[in-house]
This record gives sequence, C-alpha cells and structure tokens, in this order.
Amino acid sequence: MKSPGVKLAPSILSADFGCLGEQVAEAAEAGADYIHIDVMDGHFVPQITIGAPVVAAIRRWTNLPLDVHLMISAPENQVEQFADAGADIITVHVEACSHVYRVVQMVKGLGVKVGVSLNPATSISTLTEILPELDIALVMTVNPGFSGQAFIEGTLDKISRLRTELDRRGLAAELEVDGGINAETAPRVVRAGARVLVAGAAVFNPQRTVKEAIDKIRASFD
Ligand code: DX5
Ligand code: ZN
Repeated sequence: MKSPGVKLAPSILSADFGCLGEQVAEAAEAGADYIHIDVMDGHFVPQITIGAPVVAAIRRWTNLPLDVHLMISAPENQVEQFADAGADIITVHVEACSHVYRVVQMVKGLGVKVGVSLNPATSISTLTEILPELDIALVMTVNPGFSGQAFIEGTLDKISRLRTELDRRGLAAELEVDGGINAETAPRVVRAGARVLVAGAAVFNPQRTVKEAIDKIRASFD
C-alpha cells in the first residue's frame, strides 16, 4: 500500500524534557511533518504538562508546523496565548467547550488553523455542523491524559465513518488520530482513513533512535 499523503506528528510528551529543543530538531530532521504538543491542565485531564512559554521555546527550534492539542477546560481563555507563542494549529476538545463554534471562530480569527478533537466515547455526530469550518478533525484513539496507552480498537470504526462523511461532503479537514499509534496500529488507522498520525511513545523511546522509529512507522503503511 502506498500512502504518500499521510503525515506523521511526533508527540513531544514522550520526549526528554531536559533537552526538548534537541528532541524537536531530531524529529524534524528525521522527517516529521508536524510537531504535536500536548497541553494538559490537570482539570480536563489529570496531568499538567506544557504552557505557552514552552511552545514559544520550541518555536525557536523548528520551522515545522506546531500542532498544539489543548486538553484543557475553557480553552477560549487560552487560545490567544498559544497563537502568540507560535502555534500553527490549535485543536480544542468538543467536550471542553460550551460554545465550540465560537472557539473555532476565535482561533481562525487569530490566523491559526483550527482543529476539534473527540474523546473515544464522543460521537462524530457532534462534529456534523462544524465540520466544514475545520482544518483538523482529531479522533482520540486513547482516553486523553497520558502517553504510552494501548490503542482502543473500537475507534477504528469511528475513523472509517468520519472518513466516509468527509469524503461524501467533499470536506478538506485532515483526519488526525492520537493515542497508541505505532507500527502495528498505523497501517490499520491509515486503511480506516486517517491522514495525520500522532505518535509519542513509539517515536521517543530508548529502543531506537527517533529517525529509526519514524522510519519504522512510515514503512508500516507506505
Ligand atoms: C494523549 C496525548 C497524546 C499522547 C500520545 O493524551 O494527546 O498525544 O502523547 O502518546 P502515545 O503515542 O504514546 O499514545
Ligand atoms: Zn495529543
């Protein structure tokens, strides 16, 4: 199978935070398409991870698009900070917004691409009305909050149904998947219709270099 349009977005949540800049540069050098940055607030999800100043620091290490995944409550209060810090894509969770449409418009107004993410238990029907506005539709394939979790099998069917809907309506939103993506699950999500694959533990781990890890994932579906 050849899948030239599929992008890889290494999640720096699994990187060594002690040398984050170098890790980002290594991922870029190894052929990453986006750098995925997981922002958690200890409220919407249990951990606290990265804030806008860290995004600004990462910005100085790469020209790749910074794909900022906000796992935070009331993201409307924070999106401007992340845009100013250099985010190219800002994704919010549908479950975290009372007024999703307003937040989407706010992000677009900041000149940044916008995504909306769905937790595993959230139906794709929650995106029906907003889909034409989106640059990214992110299907979580684990429960958000931690890297290194096992892929939830039931999300494959959800990815296929969202792919069908995007194609049927001729919409351009990139279908991104996040959680438990590795060389075993990557070809399966690509077959189901995913076009941007986030991978944390499978990219940054002691078993292999970042380059070897990225090559291995890409080879699994190319
Ligand atoms: C999970 C995060 C993911 C995570 C992916 O809440 O949104 O981006 O870092 O990590 P892996 O690929 O290890 O599941
Ligand atoms: Zn993420």
